[in-house]
Amino acid sequence: MGESFRECRRVIEDGRFIIVNVSPVITRRPGREFESIRYPIHYDLHRVLTEAGYYFVDEILWVKPEPSVPDRISGYRQTRKPLSYKPNCITESLMVYRKDCAFLLDRNMRGYEDYDRHEDEPIDTTNCWHIAPKYDKNHPAVFPEELCRRVLRYYSFEGDTVMDIFAGSGTFGRAARKMGRIPVLCEMNEDYARIIESESGGYYDVRGGSGEKRGQQITIWEGLQGRGD
Ligand SMILES: C[S@@+](CC[C@H](N)C(=O)[O-])C[C@H]1O[C@@H](n2cnc3c(N)ncnc32)[C@H](O)[C@@H]1O
Repeated sequence: MGESFRECRRVIEDGRFIIVNVSPVITRRPGREFESIRYPIHYDLHRVLTEAGYYFVDEILWVKPEPSVPDRISGYRQTRKPLSYKPNCITESLMVYRKDCAFLLDRNMRGYEDYDRHEDEPIDTTNCWHIAPKYDKNHPAVFPEELCRRVLRYYSFEGDTVMDIFAGSGTFGRAARKMGRIPVLCEMNEDYARIIESESGGYYDVRGGSGEKRGQQITIWEGLQGRGD
């Protein structure tokens, strides 16, 4: 992970943002007689990100409707036994970090004076974003497009090149294109990459993959339209 974030740092403009979506994972238990252990990866990721050259800005919680998440509370509901309490986990974290640099944000915002203010859109005034999850027949863990839309709205300007290094089914890329950003995607699973390519109607120029391996990664470059090469 550290290597991926260092590589991102190499291509991200000084002072721009990286946003990482994480939630605790369950580690595989050796057998049924063992308790499953949850692991809060975001606590480790803070160190990985700071060592890779970013500093912490915010934690945003993606809050989901309770019926959409796995039920963990029913045991306690029945027994009310202390220690057996396991709440339903309705949040994921968006870890918002900025690439280390010696200047203030004002400098990053220079040159965008005539940006679209989107006056009619409501503003998310807290760090809790209430968004229903999405499911997809082609991928087991997709983001709702609304989540990507908010990340793009608050952390990029129209016309910016934006990158998703864990592209999956390409939700971020779709939202980015609709919002006038230029997406660059990476996805290590060639099947997913090919789905993104075919659904994009030829927008993406796929590099890497079978026959042209670059480590494990398949890079789905931004559309060639408008790049002039
Ligand atoms: C949670 S999914 C992302 C889903 C995506 N946000 C969407 O809406 O479809 C994470 C994806 O990252 C990919 N992945 C994991 N490690 C990777 C790596 N080192 N390089 C590129 N892709 C990677 C996985 O194959 C998986 O499709």
